[in-house]
Amino acid sequence: MHGKLAVFASGSGTNFEAIAQACADGRLDAEVSLMVCDKPGAAVVARAERFGIPSFVFNPKDYASKGDYEREIIRRMDALGIDLVCLAGYMRIVSDVLLEAYGGRIINIHPSLLPAFKGAHAVEDAVAYGVKVYGITIHWVNADLDGGRIIAQRAFDYDGSDPAEVHRIGQKIEHALYIETIQKLLKNL
Ligand code: GAR
Repeated sequence: MHGKLAVFASGSGTNFEAIAQACADGRLDAEVSLMVCDKPGAAVVARAERFGIPSFVFNPKDYASKGDYEREIIRRMDALGIDLVCLAGYMRIVSDVLLEAYGGRIINIHPSLLPAFKGAHAVEDAVAYGVKVYGITIHWVNADLDGGRIIAQRAFDYDGSDPAEVHRIGQKIEHALYIETIQKLLKNL
């Protein structure tokens, strides 16, 4: 199916851009209908503007609770008929409010071979541990942080101690794997 995606990001947005570009090129039979960002001023906001993709950029502090801003996100996603929510460097835990509305339709990309190295510093933790095989995981999002069922993984070897280098190698893999995985999931929606 031609899917309508919402992509959530908090920072640079290279995954957002890779997905948006794949939609624009027709490599992905989908459109990014909404970009959601919890960090006004994040680089992803300018990327969305360049693509002409509508965005909802908010400051969580402007809302009384997480439920309040998630209800606003849900209202906007419902209005657009979003099929699949792709978390791409969205550094917030989603609450039951979003999970009740979109559970089973939310995926996340994580820069480790889960279940190893959950959390916000996966690459740094893996380098500190001294692992020699790194990787990327795409998984369903549930109430268990980085613990939802795994959809796809891709590994790579690295024998060094530079987290920036691991990020660099990993991000190339992320971009390709995210696009392939979204395409496969949309076929089965
Ligand atoms: C990605 O590498 C993603 O795996 C990671 O944030 C980065 C965002 O990059 N996500 C997590 O660490 C989630 N725990 P991007 O903004 O350039 O797409």
